[in-house]
Amino acid sequence: MFQSLSEIAALLNAGEIAAIPTETVYGLAAQALNPHAVEKIFRAKGRPSDNPLIVHVADVGMAESLVTSISPDARRLMEAFWPGPLTVILPKAGLVPDIVTASLPNIALRIPNHDTAIALIKETGPLAAPSANKSGKPSPTSAFHVEQDFGPSLPVLDAGPCDVGIESTVVGFIENTPVIFRPGSISATMISGILGKTVMNAQPFAGTGLPPQSPGMKYTHYSPLARVCWWDGQKPGKDDMLITISSGMKSGNLFSFDGDFEAFARSLYDSFRQADFLQKKRVLIEPFQPDAHSIAPALLNRINKAAGLDS
Ligand code: TXA
Ligand code: MG
Repeated sequence: MFQSLSEIAALLNAGEIAAIPTETVYGLAAQALNPHAVEKIFRAKGRPSDNPLIVHVADVGMAESLVTSISPDARRLMEAFWPGPLTVILPKAGLVPDIVTASLPNIALRIPNHDTAIALIKETGPLAAPSANKSGKPSPTSAFHVEQDFGPSLPVLDAGPCDVGIESTVVGFIENTPVIFRPGSISATMISGILGKTVMNAQPFAGTGLPPQSPGMKYTHYSPLARVCWWDGQKPGKDDMLITISSGMKSGNLFSFDGDFEAFARSLYDSFRQADFLQKKRVLIEPFQPDAHSIAPALLNRINKAAGLDS
């Protein structure tokens, strides 16, 4: 059910959940400081309770009210990339309910680069919001996708399709080393350019039990019903959807990007959903070289996860 900003703000302020736009993907929001409201997010999504939520704030002051401290490096990243698709992990303040952080001592925070979202958060205060998909499904990049997963009864603030199309980069610190827990459009190169130090990737830490972990890493994500595979160059069959990245249009493919990785990111999840709508059995994706300076490594991460090739 599509509703206005003031209607959505009133619902959230009354402890209800609603889907909200951001520049990355749509989020399923509740007031972060109301544990009963946040519990509704977990129930609606079918989300495991050990997977913490990102909290969205309207300005740095609101972020400061939710944490005990901000290291100089964390502050540099916030200054460089907020508002924007960078989620920063910081030590949480006592007023943040445990359900938000899955009882972890840290909270994940970002200011979305989206005027409507920021205007809403000014009305509601901090909003906890995971992506507004059922757990395991591709993230929604339009209000229509949200309705596909939750039906017409869920209130949605529709602000058109998302600009980025894949979820934010999640960055934390182990000792003083910056660690990317989830790659996104803010790349490791961009982060190390600001901090002047090497950025680690969290993948080697997965499953080692070394703290701090980002619990979302262990869940299968982003999968359509169709099987996602890398294209081996064979002629696709009628049950296949082919996505070419740089080799131009081929007969029978719906998506072709001429090397434009930003455009590919914007429609990746929509292509997964369209494959299911068209009852395709496979999504074949043309392999590409991940250039560390671009969004390509994040796309590689999402595709490998959808293909079940990555934990
Ligand atoms: O772009 C995005 O980040 C979108 C929009 C709505 O903002 N949100 C999103 O949320 O993708 P979600 O819940 O689908 O993914 C959040 C990720 C998960 O991998 C989770 O484990 C990690 O962030 N995370 C959240 N809180 C954390 C914490 N305190 N420590 C470590 N990782 C955390
Ligand atoms: Mg998600």
